[in-house]
Amino acid sequence: MWKGRFKTDTAQLLKDYSESISFDWRLYRHDIAGSIAHATALEAAGLINQTELEAIRSGLASIRDEIDRGEFVWKPDLEDVHMNIEAELTRRIGDPGAKLHTARSRNDQVALDIRLYLRDQADEIGQLLAEVQKSLVELGEKNAEVVIPGYTHLQRAQPVLFAHHLLAYVEMFSRDAGRVADARGRLNVMPLGSGAIAGSTINLDRELIARLLDFPAITQNSMDAVSDRDFAVELLSAMALIGIHLSRLSEDLILWASAEFKFVTISDAYTTGSSLMPQKKNPDVCELTRGKTGRVVGNLVSLLTTLKGLPMTYNRDMQEDKEPLFDSVDTVKASLQIYAAMLREIQVNPAPCAEAVADWNLLATDVADYLVLHGVPFRKAHEIVGKTVALCVEQGVALADLSLEDYKALSPAFEADVFDLLNVRRSIDARTNPGAPSSANVQAQLARWKAALE
Ligand code: ARG
Repeated sequence: MWKGRFKTDTAQLLKDYSESISFDWRLYRHDIAGSIAHATALEAAGLINQTELEAIRSGLASIRDEIDRGEFVWKPDLEDVHMNIEAELTRRIGDPGAKLHTARSRNDQVALDIRLYLRDQADEIGQLLAEVQKSLVELGEKNAEVVIPGYTHLQRAQPVLFAHHLLAYVEMFSRDAGRVADARGRLNVMPLGSGAIAGSTINLDRELIARLLDFPAITQNSMDAVSDRDFAVELLSAMALIGIHLSRLSEDLILWASAEFKFVTISDAYTTGSSLMPQKKNPDVCELTRGKTGRVVGNLVSLLTTLKGLPMTYNRDMQEDKEPLFDSVDTVKASLQIYAAMLREIQVNPAPCAEAVADWNLLATDVADYLVLHGVPFRKAHEIVGKTVALCVEQGVALADLSLEDYKALSPAFEADVFDLLNVRRSIDARTNPGAPSSANVQAQLARWKAALE
């Protein structure tokens, strides 16, 4: 492609070192769509004629079909997807193929291809997020009555509906979808026409290309358009957060599926056994997702670090954007897909949940709130109930086992109705503020999400 300037051939070592076709081949559909739009603009500008445009169109279409069928032979010597396709087109149709790269550089071409690719991926990730959310809502609906301890510091804190816990993740995934959509909005800008760095002396109708490729806008600075990958960083960042949320959900499920908790059983189809220990049933999907998230976070840091010291504008370093991007896209999509399926088959075990929630200490805050409603300042109430719990620990009994005299001795504000507090459903249903886990609130949230996700 640049033989004019060089006397000797590129070293084989360098060819092997610099090729990207082994991974960027997967941009072929976007590369071809971009080239067809570019050729259309060449024709509109009178730089090629109708017949040449047709030859380019049908040549590219037949190359695309061959790649689709897995019959196309990629040549590492031609470095990347852009040169492989262009060279093969020219081999097939001659001169019109050789005119295709007029007023274009691989720098704006690759910027276009990645944007087109990421636009598609953003849509797919958005759909998969919705699938996971649906599975969570369904699981919550199926177990709408189940109460579990809520934890802080992994110590029992206050009772919550199991569905409330799941809905927390539905909220997180909804913000993830928002971030993906935001990133999509900012990357949905058409860079072609920026050339290598300074546009071209040959003017093509950039708005026409944008319309053909369904972009609502064109980039406004040719140097910016070929030198930044901030849009890719944004999507990597959104994907890293999806990974983090999946990883935390994984950790919850791993704990819940343990013999110590027994809150849930993950179906056989989504667990694995041990080659040595016959009794084992391991939550590998959760562990793998937690593990893969390390790589997904690494991919974000990888591209940030690649970009950090680059002078304007395009530098070959930027070819290193693709492997982390592809890896995060593949990993996050696969994780979301398997989670949507696995969650649908999770069975909740009401008895161990009920047993865990029968810990009266979960209601200690309710007792403090009771004192507050009887005129005791909260700090004082906190101390009184702290002493009450300490007394229970000392005597090896629960809050429900103390007598009214015991309570009265701790604070005269206690009345006989203190025992009414020691009821988990009452505790939950008293939490009626928006966002709090009363049954009515949780039902409303399940219904809201169900409708929103339809
Ligand atoms: N394969 C290259 C990349 O992904 C395409 C752009 C190459 N441009 C260049 N001037 N070498 O970044």
